[in-house]
Amino acid sequence: DLISEIKHLEELFTVDTAKLKEITNHFVNELAKGLSVEGGSIPMNPTWVMSQPTGYETGSYLALDMGGTNLRVCQVTLTEQKSEFDIIQSKYRMPEELKTGDAEELWEYIADCLQQFIETHHGDVSKLEKIPLGFTFSYPATQNYIDEGILQRWTKGFDIAGVEGRNVVPMFEAALARRGVPIKLTALINDTTGTLVASAYTDPKMKIGCIFGTGCNAAYFEDFGSIPKLAHVDIAPDTPMAINCEWGAFDNEHVVLPRTPYDVAIDRDSPRPGQQAFEKMIAGLYLGEIFRLVMVDLHDKKDVNIFAGQDVSKLRKPYTLDSSFLSAIEEDPFENLSETLELFQNKLNISPSLPELELIRRTAELIGTRAARLSACGVAAISIKKGYKTCHVGADGSVFNKYPHFKARGAQALREILDWPEKKDPKEEDPIEILAAEDGSGVGAALIAALTLQRVKAGI
Ligand code: BG6
Ligand code: GLC
Repeated sequence: DLISEIKHLEELFTVDTAKLKEITNHFVNELAKGLSVEGGSIPMNPTWVMSQPTGYETGSYLALDMGGTNLRVCQVTLTEQKSEFDIIQSKYRMPEELKTGDAEELWEYIADCLQQFIETHHGDVSKLEKIPLGFTFSYPATQNYIDEGILQRWTKGFDIAGVEGRNVVPMFEAALARRGVPIKLTALINDTTGTLVASAYTDPKMKIGCIFGTGCNAAYFEDFGSIPKLAHVDIAPDTPMAINCEWGAFDNEHVVLPRTPYDVAIDRDSPRPGQQAFEKMIAGLYLGEIFRLVMVDLHDKKDVNIFAGQDVSKLRKPYTLDSSFLSAIEEDPFENLSETLELFQNKLNISPSLPELELIRRTAELIGTRAARLSACGVAAISIKKGYKTCHVGADGSVFNKYPHFKARGAQALREILDWPEKKDPKEEDPIEILAAEDGSGVGAALIAALTLQRVKAGI
């Protein structure tokens, strides 16, 4: 019966306190390993962002954000007023075909969007001086300099041939040059680094920048002296260096994460099997797909056979359900789950019974809760590694901003991992608070461009 199926799902998807602690302990070691000469599965990429903003940065910069869902172009002006800025921006949809198309098309599309933006806001491109640009390229990249990005591998379902292993900057600049678009790429950054810097700009307590969106990742400041793989660089050991962890790759060896058969299937059928083990259990790109796989499985099991006699062909299509579908299920305010019923009817042509609706709701809760609790392990691990007893963590992304209860569930898990006593007053801040971040790929990219130009000017 469905009650015992729910019990079984609860066993598969629940991560208890002891497991959270075990994952966190392993995570702390993996962070250190990634910084070591041997390396590990978490890349821990040095970003060459080597200072925190003071709030007094000034100037006007372009920022280009190539995340997973949208392409965004911004013009950011950092004003003389401390920590204040003006921003104008345009969003362009990232066409689905581009994600698995060819490299040329990708760069042409990006260059087109930039050209359009500049022509709208600055007029004739042929009369312009070169404008400094911060390019938020949110994929793992090796950087020997801040204006270089050798793509380690595509993540978030991207699969474009001819880019992995190569520096993306010349490809991007060539597409701009062909159009005569007057831009100087000053810095290539990750969305987490942008989030970290943008958040620290307005709140000095911000020590970690996280993205919980289509993908999942974090950045924080390490000291040069704690990065053995950079020992050959002659820079004082107490100099800060922002590290893009690329923690989505945590536990690619599958030693500690409680993977279910559904997680195994997602990985097997993804464009990059064996990669991003942690991300595939947490990030927005995968939550709806995990849910879909559970539903299909419970339909196909002869002795369970949910949605019996109904046409499930729509449900069988991979990646038809995104995380907003799960959000909507979790947000259904009605006792009889009538909104969930409508969702299933409209999107999938399926009319679940009331017991099936209850199973659906519980499954969504289990998947959403597991994602939030596992995410907390990463935040706890960085805090432990750095010895932060109290700090703020800046977070952005669709899952963090829109998925119901994600924040509260993450905060609860942090409390369990770090053994905080119960709060006396619910309004009291937690020692480590995960808060909504400032715009990383807009303001953050502009700030990093500003900090880089300052550094170049100073000859450092
Ligand atoms: C946006 C940031 O708000 O969140 C981007 O500006 C970031 O830099 C994005 O990549 C992540 O969220 P999602 O849900 O679009 O992947
Ligand atoms: C993926 C990318 C990473 C990015 C994250 C959030 O994990 O590899 O670079 O920060 O998604 O967008």
